[in-house]
Amino acid sequence: MDLFEYQARDMFEAHGVPVLAGKTATTPEGAKAAAEEIGATSGGVTVVKAQVKVGGRGKAGGVKVAKSADEAQQYAEQILGMDIKGHTVGTVMIAQGAQIAEEYYFSVLLDRTNRRYLAMCSKEGGVEIEKLAVERPEALARVAVDPNVGIDAAKAKEIVDEAGFDAELGAKIAPVLTKLWDVYREEDATLVEVNPLVQTTDGKIIALDGKVTLDANADFRHPEHATLEDKASADPLEAAAKEKGLNYVKLDGDVGIIGNGAGLVMSTLDVVAYAGEKVGAETGKPAPQPANFLDIGGGASAEVMANGLGIILGDEQVKSVFVNVFGGITACDAVANGIVGALDKLGDGATKPLVVRLDGNNVEEGRRILAERNHPLVSIEETMDGAAAKAATLAAK
Ligand SMILES: Nc1ncnc2c1ncn2[C@@H]1O[C@H](COP(=O)(O)OP(=O)(O)OP(=O)(O)O)[C@@H](O)[C@H]1O
Ligand SMILES: [Mg+2]
Repeated sequence: MDLFEYQARDMFEAHGVPVLAGKTATTPEGAKAAAEEIGATSGGVTVVKAQVKVGGRGKAGGVKVAKSADEAQQYAEQILGMDIKGHTVGTVMIAQGAQIAEEYYFSVLLDRTNRRYLAMCSKEGGVEIEKLAVERPEALARVAVDPNVGIDAAKAKEIVDEAGFDAELGAKIAPVLTKLWDVYREEDATLVEVNPLVQTTDGKIIALDGKVTLDANADFRHPEHATLEDKASADPLEAAAKEKGLNYVKLDGDVGIIGNGAGLVMSTLDVVAYAGEKVGAETGKPAPQPANFLDIGGGASAEVMANGLGIILGDEQVKSVFVNVFGGITACDAVANGIVGALDKLGDGATKPLVVRLDGNNVEEGRRILAERNHPLVSIEETMDGAAAKAATLAAK
C-alpha cells in the first residue's frame, strides 16, 4: 500500500524524523483555517500541496507557496479537484514554508534481485531526480544494505560519504538516515523515499516530502495500518473481493476471468486478450478484453467459487465469464461441483454466459458433472484457446 505524503509525514514524525508542521484540508475554507494556524509558525508562509499517490505533483502545478492564508485558500481552490496524471486531488496538505538552502535525495527500498535492501542518496535532490539517475548516475550513490544489520551509524556514514557530503554536513544527515531506517524496518515498508531532504538556511535537516510503501504481507503485524487505507478511492469490487479474501484485480474489459493459480490466470488474460483482438477485427466492434484477474487458488470450494462468481457477475462491464481450471491437488470433479453449487447458490443472480474449460486431474468426471447438470448458461470447451475464443465471441454479442 502506498501512503499519501501527509500519512508518510505523520509516520516520520512518530519515528523522530524531523518534518515540518502540516495539516490536511478538503475544502478551500479548511485550507485557509489550516494556513492561519500553520503559517503563524513560519512568518505567514505556507505551502499548499496536492495529496495524490503519484510523482511529479510540483511540476503539474500541485505544489504552491502561499504568502498568506488568503493566498493558501486561493491555491487550494485551484488544486482541489485538479487531475494529476489521472488522480483527482481530494485533499491538500498545508505545510509550513521552509527557507531552503539545499535539496538532497534519500531512499531505501527492497532489492528483490539481490535479496537485500538498497539505499540511494544524492547531494542533488529535488524534482529532477529521475533525470539525474539517467543522465548522471554517478551523482546518485547506491549502497547495499544488509537486512540483518540495517542502516546503523556506520552504514549511514558510508551512505553520506558515498554521496559526497563533507564530514560536517554528513554528520548532520546521517542520524536522519538511521531514523528513516527505523521507519522502514518498524513499519515493514518496501520503500521510504525523501525527495527533497533539505538543509534550511539555519542549518536544519528536514524531510520535506515523503513517499512510503508498506508491505501488505506484514499487515498482520500492523492492525494500526488499516486506518491508512484510502477507502474513498478504492474500487468497490476490489474492496468486496478483499473482504472475502479473494485475489481479485479489476481490469477494464468485459470478459470475466476465474482460474486456479496465479500463473494460469495470467496466461488466461493473455489468451483472452488475443482472442478478443481477433473477434474485434472480425466484427469491427471494440475488441473484448479481460475484465479482471481472479485467482481462486488450489482448494476451490463451492463457496469460494460462488464468492468469485458473485464478484465477477457484480461487475456491470462483464458480458461473459471464462472459468479456466487445471485440476491438480484439487480434482476437476470437485471444481465442477463447485461451479454447479455456485450457480445454484446464485440462482437468478447468475445471468451471464459461462464458458468452462477443465483439464487435469479427474477431468472426465468433472465434465460429466457439468454435462449432467446442463445449466443453460454454461458451455464446456475442451481447450483454453477454444474457450477464450468462445468467451470473447459471447462478450461481443
Ligand atoms: N514546505 C515547503 N517549504 C518550501 N518549499 C517547499 C515545501 N514543500 C515543497 N517545497 C518545494 O517544492 C518542491 C516540490 O515539492 P515536493 O517534493 O513535495 O513535491 P514533488 O516532488 O513535486 O512531488 P513528488 O515528490 O510527488 O514528485 C520541493 O523540491 C521544494 O523545493
Ligand atoms: Mg518530491
